[in-house]
Amino acid sequence: MAFTVAIDGPAAAGKGTIGKAVAAHFGFAHLDTGLLYRAVARHMLDGTDPIVAARGLRTEDLDTEGLRTPEVARAASRVAAMPEVRRALVDFQRAFARRGGGAVLDGRDIGTVICPEAEVKLFVTATDAVRAGRRHRELVGTGHEVSLEEVAQDLRQRDARDSARADAPLRPADDAVVLDTSKLDIDAAVARAIDIIGRARG
Ligand code: C5P
Repeated sequence: MAFTVAIDGPAAAGKGTIGKAVAAHFGFAHLDTGLLYRAVARHMLDGTDPIVAARGLRTEDLDTEGLRTPEVARAASRVAAMPEVRRALVDFQRAFARRGGGAVLDGRDIGTVICPEAEVKLFVTATDAVRAGRRHRELVGTGHEVSLEEVAQDLRQRDARDSARADAPLRPADDAVVLDTSKLDIDAAVARAIDIIGRARG
């Protein structure tokens, strides 16, 4: 049986961590859709036309090393503003969403564009300062030398571009449940999400 959980929100709000944890809890498959745009961006940085890269994207490309760097994130938000790139990635995401056994997709436009019929829609958010602090700790923890201010500026620019683009801008679906994780630790945020999904499942 298909059951789709759509999780959207700005960068570093906790979507990915929550998505992974709720998928494990319910035994659903999980797709971090940001990786699709990051993989296309990686190809672009290597000299491939992003539209060609998006049309030819393979599942293995999502396992490429180095997709989590700030440079790739910036390039991802640029390729993500290209309508042809977005269009090329729609079918893969929709097929993933409706596979049997349940699926969790996290991104920016899952509840609004990719899966408007999703059984559960969450919009995960947190204050700019909390998100910058989290992303900074994450990057420093994986060996990146970057200041908190640089991270904060990067997030601001990416959020602004993601929210202002004409095609599939970042915004909550009208029927999304907003989950503000600013004052929640990860366990509490995951528990909240599990509760919302569990109730929708009946
Ligand atoms: O979530 P993550 O930070 O990995 O996403 C990288 C970029 O990919 C985002 O800044 C956004 O521009 C783009 N993206 C998108 N739609 C999605 C997922 C990610 O436009 N569903």
